[in-house]
Amino acid sequence: MTNIDQQADKILRGATVNFKANPRVSGQENSVSYEAKGAIVISTSGHILWQGAFANLPTEFKELPCDDYEDKLILPGFIDPHIHFPQNRILAAPGKDLLDWLNRFTFPEEARYCSAEYAAKAAEFFLDRLFANGTTSSLAFCSVHKVCADTLFAAAEKRGMAMITGKTMMDRFAPDNVLDTPETGARDTQELIKKWHGKGRLKYAITPRFAVTSTDAQLQLTGDLYKDNPNCLMQTHLSESAGEIATVQKQFPWSKDYTDVYDHFNLLGENSFFAHGIHLSDRECARLSESGSTVVHCPTSNNFLGSGLFDIDHLGKAERPVGVGVATDVGGGTSYSMLQTLGEAYKVAMLKGRKITAYDAFYLATLGNAKQLKLDKEIGSLDPGKFADIVVLDPKSTPVLASRQEVSETLEDVLFSLMILGDDRAVSATYVAGKCVYKG
Ligand code: GUN
Ligand code: FE
Repeated sequence: MTNIDQQADKILRGATVNFKANPRVSGQENSVSYEAKGAIVISTSGHILWQGAFANLPTEFKELPCDDYEDKLILPGFIDPHIHFPQNRILAAPGKDLLDWLNRFTFPEEARYCSAEYAAKAAEFFLDRLFANGTTSSLAFCSVHKVCADTLFAAAEKRGMAMITGKTMMDRFAPDNVLDTPETGARDTQELIKKWHGKGRLKYAITPRFAVTSTDAQLQLTGDLYKDNPNCLMQTHLSESAGEIATVQKQFPWSKDYTDVYDHFNLLGENSFFAHGIHLSDRECARLSESGSTVVHCPTSNNFLGSGLFDIDHLGKAERPVGVGVATDVGGGTSYSMLQTLGEAYKVAMLKGRKITAYDAFYLATLGNAKQLKLDKEIGSLDPGKFADIVVLDPKSTPVLASRQEVSETLEDVLFSLMILGDDRAVSATYVAGKCVYKG
């Protein structure tokens, strides 16, 4: 790793929980390391210099200032790979289904993000919510307006966080005040890429909203943009609701299925993120797998909008495994909390007759999401060399959790109770690049 200032700055003390590998592949216990009395040493550049048992702390670090969290859990910060910045005022807006919710609540609210002032105020609120929930990085949608993306990038840069976002492209099937054209969408995107992609910890995501709201001409130009900027990410929505799928079938009658539409315009790939993916066929999964694309599970949103039950084992079939992330999808999603999101993912799996363990869930929300984003050299675990993006969780943050811990016997059980019963009250502190950005 280059550019790490080796000067030690401070120590965090607490119970460290570090994910090493996918528990579904490597076995549950092998995937996590735990130090009940652990410590992390952070450098002045905001990276992790050392991690281990406090008893083994090298003498050179012993005099450093220390943030002591006692028996609270120190974990890598959560990563949210699908969230909508301009939807932070419409959580819990009761649509009949996805398309109704978009038309009645989402598009009118997103229209307000043509204002730099409105967007700037909302950006502070949005990033405050992420930090208060222990989320240190996200892959986010902005509105169609260039100023909205400019504003979120600037606010994230100021906070030193790894933010990936992009201006949404949409040129049909919505009110005029949230539409661009293929040409303006591509031009604005190109300008934003030039300005922000690779600046500090920021990255650009090319962002066609979904096939429903883009003409062939826009999807064509989007594919060209992705080809010209292969280090950018691409994010969109796929196979979320029945009404959406039927609309896509009508709009693109030549397509084999929904995935085929994106495939046709060269939008599948290793940096491609498709939110939802609830109703995918074997053929679609095979293409997504072959292309190295990621499907992002958004359980609170899917449950709220009645979109359907994601099947983690269907996506993960050994002969054609699709890479999976897990995310809030605020504001279709009903919570900024990745703990609540993991709890809901667990319940969805139960309803499908599947099993997600606590290790599976916490791995997905940290190192798993980092790997899918190709950011695992920088974030996702507590390994030395990575950014000190950290969340400190209090497993006794509420009376119910505190009494639950009296009978929990293992780390896995503590994590499990946190993801079922925990929320933002469980977040004691959040660090971004070694700096404490939130205290609960
Ligand atoms: N599909 C297209 N746009 C959206 C959105 O804003 N939220 C969700 N959940 N699905 C979408
Ligand atoms: Fe979404």
